[in-house]
Amino acid sequence: MKFGVVSETGPRERRVATVPSVVAKLIAAGHTVHIEQGAGLRAGFDDEMYRTQGASVLTRSDVLTQSECLLRVAVPNADEINELRAGQTLVSYIYPKRHADVLASLAASGVHVFAMDALPRITRAQTMDVLSSQNNLAGYKAVVIGAAELGRIFPLMMTAAGTVPPAKVLIYGAGVAGLQAIATARRLGAQVEVTDVRPETKEQVESLGAKFIAVEGLDQVNVQGGYVAAIGQDVLERQKVAVEKSLTAADLVICTALVTGGTAPTLITTDQVSRMKRGAVIIDMAAEAGGNCELTKADVRIEHGGVLVLGPTDLASSAAQNASELYAKNVLAFLAHVATSDGFAFDVADEITSATLVAHNGQVRT
Ligand code: NAI
Repeated sequence: MKFGVVSETGPRERRVATVPSVVAKLIAAGHTVHIEQGAGLRAGFDDEMYRTQGASVLTRSDVLTQSECLLRVAVPNADEINELRAGQTLVSYIYPKRHADVLASLAASGVHVFAMDALPRITRAQTMDVLSSQNNLAGYKAVVIGAAELGRIFPLMMTAAGTVPPAKVLIYGAGVAGLQAIATARRLGAQVEVTDVRPETKEQVESLGAKFIAVEGLDQVNVQGGYVAAIGQDVLERQKVAVEKSLTAADLVICTALVTGGTAPTLITTDQVSRMKRGAVIIDMAAEAGGNCELTKADVRIEHGGVLVLGPTDLASSAAQNASELYAKNVLAFLAHVATSDGFAFDVADEITSATLVAHNGQVRT
């Protein structure tokens, strides 16, 4: 099959959909790879590195014309949708529920679309799971950025002038990003407290050396496929009360809470931020999905009563080299499952294909 990779055009997107080592593997599997000149530069891969592994380095329009399948990272914008033609296949992040209009345009253009973010969280799909690889990196970056913004250090430090206590970090959500944020904050020496509404996360949190904040009634939370499907308002109210003390004492708060369908629940009100310490920092990773903090605005610095609220949306992209390598490996594993050197099988009886194939033959499938 002829795969094409073009530069990501979003100003904050530094990743590239494939890397030289993966090009070699695609070619060994009988495929051809076209890459736009300079597509990998912002992730640390120059054209020569791709050429050495067997890719053809072409202009953007040649890549688009000559490829049967385009590999991308970011959700395409209107101009990028217009670049594609009927019968081509797109493999990319799509977030079908959040970008129904994008998906409708792609389907109307006759483009077949696989959404990498729609993979089922099952053992068989683990090697393909871009959310896992990218959100892991993002969880690490959120803590590192938070640490750099804080006017204090993370570890306990004993000096002749006195003892500096460790920073206090509060993390909302112990999924992929949250668990990595816990591990990173602990490695830097912080005291970490965590709230999650899936009871099974307690053990994982504690195994990383953090404290799990107990909330009554978590056994009533409806969890399906690893995601919180439904949660009563009473549980959320109890959670708010349970975290209040930790929130007002926190130096850094990392928000990662997410429920089914990619919606971010509002868990920190403006009123609560007003009661936080001056100099505290909130990194709201859920900004793109609306944010866990009421004050969050995606990619905008907000100060409220001396508390800094950040909602960066490019955390994985800020580790572009590692992020591209892991993304490319996930896509490689995915392609090995759904594609042969002759093309895609589009076998919707297969669980992985059925979940990820979100547009086919002009129809949206979600
Ligand atoms: P995940 O689905 O693995 O974890 C979300 C966690 O939130 C789950 O453990 C869930 O139980 C928990 N949760 C749900 N309701 C809660 C509540 N009321 N209180 C506390 N916890 C609650 O998601 P993952 O992969 O960890 O991603 C987390 C967030 O980070 C997502 O919003 C994702 O879109 C975002 N993200 C942001 C990036 C950026 O650049 N800003 C990059 C990568 C991910």
